[in-house]
Amino acid sequence: MSPCVFLFLICVNSLGVSHVRSSDDPEANTCEDPPVFSPSHLVVKHGDPTTATCTVCKEKCHNKHMGLEKPLGTDSMNGTTITWTVDKMTEWDTFVMCYYNTESRQCSSSLPITVYQPPVRVSFNFVNHSGPMILGHTYIMQCSVEDVAPVGGLTVVFYKGETELNETKLDGEEKNPVTIAVLFQYHPVRGYHNWNYYCKATLQLGTEHFSWKSSEEVNIDTYFPPQLDVPPYPNPINVTEGDALVLNCSAYGSPRTHYRWKLPTGQTIAGNSIFTLDPVSVSDEGHYICSASNNLGTDTVDYSVFVQRVTTTTTATTTTAATTTATTTTATTTQRVLDTTSIVVTTRSTRSTGSTSRTPIHRFTLGFMLLFLASV
Ligand SMILES: *[C@@H]1O[C@H](CO)[C@@H](O)[C@H](O)[C@H]1NC(C)=O
Ligand SMILES: *[C@@H]1O[C@H](CO)[C@@H](O)[C@H](O)[C@H]1NC(C)=O
Ligand SMILES: *[C@@H]1O[C@H](CO)[C@@H](O)[C@H](O)[C@H]1NC(C)=O
Ligand SMILES: *[C@@H]1O[C@H](CO)[C@@H](O)[C@H](O)[C@H]1NC(C)=O
Ligand SMILES: *[C@@H]1O[C@H](CO)[C@@H](O)[C@H](O)[C@H]1NC(C)=O
Repeated sequence: MSPCVFLFLICVNSLGVSHVRSSDDPEANTCEDPPVFSPSHLVVKHGDPTTATCTVCKEKCHNKHMGLEKPLGTDSMNGTTITWTVDKMTEWDTFVMCYYNTESRQCSSSLPITVYQPPVRVSFNFVNHSGPMILGHTYIMQCSVEDVAPVGGLTVVFYKGETELNETKLDGEEKNPVTIAVLFQYHPVRGYHNWNYYCKATLQLGTEHFSWKSSEEVNIDTYFPPQLDVPPYPNPINVTEGDALVLNCSAYGSPRTHYRWKLPTGQTIAGNSIFTLDPVSVSDEGHYICSASNNLGTDTVDYSVFVQRVTTTTTATTTTAATTTATTTTATTTQRVLDTTSIVVTTRSTRSTGSTSRTPIHRFTLGFMLLFLASV
């Protein structure tokens, strides 16, 4: 631009015709025709080769001095296009700038470069803890992510099975690889007790890069006291004499729940969650107290049983009845004495699961019962 043209621009400007200003105006902060990089943001893995091109201008840079400022790599020029090539990206924090000079100023653009490294190792552990977790206590989970860059693109997620427990997005401007530990406070809950826990580190850099790495899974049990899980039942429970009495005391606990039943007679027996008495007689009336317990606690339920009398005389025919419960019982011999008011069943049972104690001859049995009814 000749000095007189320059002077002319100043004159025009003083007349208030500002739109005549060009990018060559020394007071302008932006270039009208700036260099443009392709891609506009370079994302490259540390150690990988990379390339970018700079279109120095559309027209304003012709016959001007132009170039690329770069701490590494090589460039080659073809017309107004400069190609930057790096065989191996060895820097973490680097830049490249493309420019051309006009008479009055320099017009330049920088290429944003993100050099990344997916985590080299991801590990999971419970801080200062091993063995089962106990309900009501607090535990600290730790996810260690080694040698990842840049930390600002990292997200750490803790898992229990397939369930996401916590997501932590890391921030920070650090461009060099870092090793970080993310902590998460966990309060165990009731429910399924034997989960695998682990964490996952995800590196996401715009739409250009996405990678993730999971830790090993850690299997750990959760302990909690039994809690009754019984459907609503009437109080009292009315059962007609001769019918079956079935009481359900299912409870969920960890470790395994053990059941004890206290009968109206005062006798206590180890059993399972289902208590069956078939057939029931008037003298079986009373309270049946079930205790569901493990080493962390006990939950109890008190069933009040009322037996309704049958006044008519029974004229029985041959029947076979089988009552099934969760316990397996073998070798049951029953003999039956019928009178007009009650059915008395004498049972000798050997229970094959749970406690090995023998149930004495008694008018009921727990578990699988075979009831042989003879004709009168
Ligand atoms: C320079 O660019 C022109 C037009 O795009 C192309 O035809 C030519 O092959 C390029 N020359 C080199 C040396 O790359
Ligand atoms: C873990 O135990 C060590 C040694 O007892 C202690 O210094 C550290 O603070 C504990 N860490 C946590 C998170 O409780
Ligand atoms: C994840 O855990 C951290 C630390 O315990 C907590 O600060 C953060 O709020 C949690 N985030 C979510 C989404 O639960
Ligand atoms: C006992 O109750 C539990 C929990 O409500 C239920 O899953 C189970 O089927 C019941 N058992 C019987 C034999 O009714
Ligand atoms: C059970 O029997 C008692 C005494 O006969 C009676 O008062 C009560 O209403 C009965 N309950 C049910 C649920 O049948």
